Amino acid sequence: MKFKKFQFLILLCFIGFLFTDCNGGEQQAKEDIPSDTPSEITPETPVDDPMDNLGIGPVKSVVLGELDQAMVEEGKKLYNAKCTACHNIKTRLIGPPQAGVLKRRSPEWVMNMILNPTEMIKKDPIAIKLLKEFNNVPMTEQGLTEEEARKILEYFRTVD
Ligand code: HEC
Repeated sequence: MKFKKFQFLILLCFIGFLFTDCNGGEQQAKEDIPSDTPSEITPETPVDDPMDNLGIGPVKSVVLGELDQAMVEEGKKLYNAKCTACHNIKTRLIGPPQAGVLKRRSPEWVMNMILNPTEMIKKDPIAIKLLKEFNNVPMTEQGLTEEEARKILEYFRTVD
C-alpha cells in the first residue's frame, strides 16, 4: 500500500515536470518575437511609393525652400555629435548610409524617423523592413527637438 502511494507521487511529479517544461518552452518562443511587430513584413515586401509615405510622428508637412547654408552647418554638427555612432554618410554601419536619402524617402518620413524611431519601427512599413534588414537593431531616440531634426534634414539635402 505504502509503495503504491509512493509510485503515484512519482507519477504526479513526472506529469508536473512535463507541464512546466512545455510552458517554459512556449514562453521562450513568445519572447523571441516582439509581440507588436507585424511579422508578415520582410525586407522583400514591396511598399507603395516611398515618397508618398510621410511616416508616423509629429511632422505632418515640410516645405523645402532654398538651401539654408547656416542650417546645413548646424545640422552637420548635430549629425556628427548624435548619429555617427551608428551612421556614416557613405557606408553602411549599424544603420544605413544617408547619402541620397531624400531621393528614397520623403522629408517628413526622415524627420519622423529621427524624432520617433521607436514607433516607426513598429508601425511604418518602410521602417519595419529596415529594422529587419539591419539585424533587428533598433534605431534609438536621440531626444532631438523638431528644430534640430529639421537642421539635420537640411544637411541631408547636401549629401546626395
Ligand atoms: C543606436 C544606433 C543609431 C543611432 C544613434 C542613430 N541611428 Fe538612425 N538608424 C539606425 C538603424 C539600425 C536604422 C535602420 C532601422 C532600424 O534598424 O531601426 C536607422 C535608420 C535611420 C534612417 C532611415 C535611413 C534610410 O535609408 O531610410 C535615418 C534617416 C536615420 N536613421 C537617421 C538618424 C539620425 C539623423 C540620427 C542622429 C540624430 C540617427 N539616425 C541615430 C541606428 C541608429
